[in-house]
Amino acid sequence: MCGIIGYIGNDNAADVLIEGLKRLEYRGYDSAGIAVLQHGRIEIRRSVGKLLHLEDALKKELLSGTVGIGHTRWATHGKPSEQNAHPHRSGNVVIVHNGIIENYLAHKRRLETAGYRFQSETDTEVIAHLLALHMEEGHSLEQAFRATVRELHGSYAIAGLCVSEPETLVVTKSGCPLVVGQGDKAAFLASDVTPLLAHTRHVTFLEDGDIGTLTPLGVTVTGVDGHPVHRDEVRIDWNAEAAEKGGYPHFMLKEIHEQPQAILDTLRGRYSYDSGEADLPDLAITPDQLRDARSIWIVACGTSWHAGMVGKYLLEELVHKPVQVDIGSEFRYRNPMVQEGDVFIALSQSGETADTLAAAREARRLGAYVLSIVNVVGSTLARESDGVIYTRCGPEISVASTKAFTGQVMALYLLALHVGRVRQVLSVEDGQWWLDQFMALPGHVERVIKREAEFVAMAHRFYEKKNFLYLGRGINYPIALEGALKLKEISYIHAEGYAAGEMKHGPIALIDEDMPVVVLAPRDRLYEKTVSNLMEVKARSAPVIAFVSESEQELEALADCVFRIPNTHALLSPIPFTAALQLLAYHIATLRNIDVDRPRNLAKSVTVE
Ligand code: M6R
Repeated sequence: MCGIIGYIGNDNAADVLIEGLKRLEYRGYDSAGIAVLQHGRIEIRRSVGKLLHLEDALKKELLSGTVGIGHTRWATHGKPSEQNAHPHRSGNVVIVHNGIIENYLAHKRRLETAGYRFQSETDTEVIAHLLALHMEEGHSLEQAFRATVRELHGSYAIAGLCVSEPETLVVTKSGCPLVVGQGDKAAFLASDVTPLLAHTRHVTFLEDGDIGTLTPLGVTVTGVDGHPVHRDEVRIDWNAEAAEKGGYPHFMLKEIHEQPQAILDTLRGRYSYDSGEADLPDLAITPDQLRDARSIWIVACGTSWHAGMVGKYLLEELVHKPVQVDIGSEFRYRNPMVQEGDVFIALSQSGETADTLAAAREARRLGAYVLSIVNVVGSTLARESDGVIYTRCGPEISVASTKAFTGQVMALYLLALHVGRVRQVLSVEDGQWWLDQFMALPGHVERVIKREAEFVAMAHRFYEKKNFLYLGRGINYPIALEGALKLKEISYIHAEGYAAGEMKHGPIALIDEDMPVVVLAPRDRLYEKTVSNLMEVKARSAPVIAFVSESEQELEALADCVFRIPNTHALLSPIPFTAALQLLAYHIATLRNIDVDRPRNLAKSVTVE
């Protein structure tokens, strides 16, 4: 999730772009850059780290043009470095990009053969070279841009400019946000409205496939085929802070809503449907090494540990390999029986959690192959791992982890598919079947979060309770733990997650009419057993909130609240179930007037032991 911006008008473009990038920095902050047309040349300034560094660079070498584009980066392809920072240039054209180009490798090979030299490790650079190539064929900027866009697969918001047409900026989008606006003899573009608010309150949200052409006189929108398209102008009344949160009251809610996109981005370009395989080039472990590994270890902390537990159920079920899951702070102080050649998977949103890092170092010392599933590109854990799968969730700002968790689970599905195919426990047809199910997941989550009003109603019934119990079985046992963690960390209500079958061994003593019990009861092979556990709860007068499969009819009479989750294969149910529990926790916390994004005593990244 990067931020892009563009300006064309009469003011100093560098100043407008930097001010705008400050507003977009929450979308990514590992590097930033701007390109400005100055005296018939494209001048680019880029720097690694926070925007401050770019500002310092600009103070040393001032830029004076009135047309430019800018970018703040959250790395997906290639580590955070000046070379990988945007804008990317090819001859006399320059572009910025937010998103993922799935077919960049095929383009890269073709362009290299045609003599184009690549300066970065990014997928983005192919766009600049394609645009230059089409301009060299004699097309105008707009025509060349259309031809380029037609050749791209993936998600993107792109802005470009060229030396030969200094009065024009071109933009497009597919699957990533982009907004344009017009000021006094000036036009603007950005990933969201925040940078535009200082200049105009009237903006236009582009839709997928739109091509926007910006000049100082305004913005025209056409389809990729060149036909005019009408898009309504919208008046924005948000203040800057609300706009940064996309109009949501909290980052947590915004991040919950970003999950369909985050899951899709984590999946994008990482499979081959024809062969029913996952394509994970950064794994850097050979099929033989994967086959020969005696066991798989998964280590993480907090919410990431819950994702790791989901991974255990998944890998054991799909791949038939023994998997051990541990908490970072425990693993490092026991005597784990890791053997040379074992596979060790570390899960972390930040890639900086001290206990997870220490566990990964210990596993490497013992001879394991270390693979990490990380959200922050270039983080310590990613750098120190032999192989990595990045969850492409974009920055997670709220302390309570939401989209990073579902992204991790999605990455684990891909990994399980990969190992299953390598070990030949899954056939081509099995692989294709699973890929179809994976692709349906963003839609399932979308359907859950669209029914937010139901969570608000549930929250009103239960927000004053002092204790909650969450019950799940099988692969939804870790989801019960995650639901309870989410509730306690943002609402300060005591909540316990339990394996439903374990309840009778102790926690049942706590149950009374004042203890709401959240039961996860998908229609899987454990369903009947979960219902028996629910009856035990009901017999002790506890209010029951049941999360069930869409087709479920039986529990209506037993539960006080029932929420239906789209039907999925049992192994995939954790993702939509989690989205539901996040919303329940969120609405309970807001009714209790808690600062949801910054709960007391917690830090986003725990970098100390
Ligand atoms: O960055 P990590 O995924 O390694 O962080 C691990 C935990 O600190 C984190 O998941 C924590 O439990 C969150 N506050 C949960 O919402």
